[in-house]
Amino acid sequence: MEKSSGKKNTAVLISGRGSNLRSLIKYSKTKKSFIRIVLVVSDNFSAKGLDYANKSNINNIVIKYSNRKSFEDRLFKILRRNNVDLICLAGFMRILSGKFIKKLNKTILNIHPSLLPKYKGLNTHDRAIQNKDKYSGATVHIVNDKLDSGKIILQKKIKILKSDTRKSLEKKVLKIEHRIYPKAVIKLLSSD
Ligand code: GRF
Repeated sequence: MEKSSGKKNTAVLISGRGSNLRSLIKYSKTKKSFIRIVLVVSDNFSAKGLDYANKSNINNIVIKYSNRKSFEDRLFKILRRNNVDLICLAGFMRILSGKFIKKLNKTILNIHPSLLPKYKGLNTHDRAIQNKDKYSGATVHIVNDKLDSGKIILQKKIKILKSDTRKSLEKKVLKIEHRIYPKAVIKLLSSD
């Protein structure tokens, strides 16, 4: 990653609620932050997370997803135009192609609500409960061309209680997500 004047120009990609975006914004406003969020991109006009971008006066844009090629072409141009150096996927529900990732040639991070490599993809909490797992957690990893499979930057686990439901587990894991996403960014960029 290019080492310029300290803070990395960062784009956060969302599709919905945006609570991880909110935690990244909060971190970016701290004095010692390694990132400056210059752009929020959503593939969904009604993503609630866009409100957080607006409230913090962060440039944001919705790119309608009609097909992957046109979406990625527009995304590529916008990221380039904004000199984005780091991309954080935060509840972004599209899969980026290997071609796009290679062409962009920037670090892309993702947060996933499971202890990867367990439970790639969707419905992670249901699967953990069904399998009577003792632990669940959250993982921040580098995005590569395989779903939820890139190098793990940070992972934190929590106990699954017998009384846990999908909802209660989701709530607990989300709380952890909000803590580890900024920590993973720090870990990644402090060794830059
Ligand atoms: C989080 O659980 C994240 O790990 C997953 O999607 C959810 C997004 O939540 N990829 P939010 O939009 O950040 O609130």
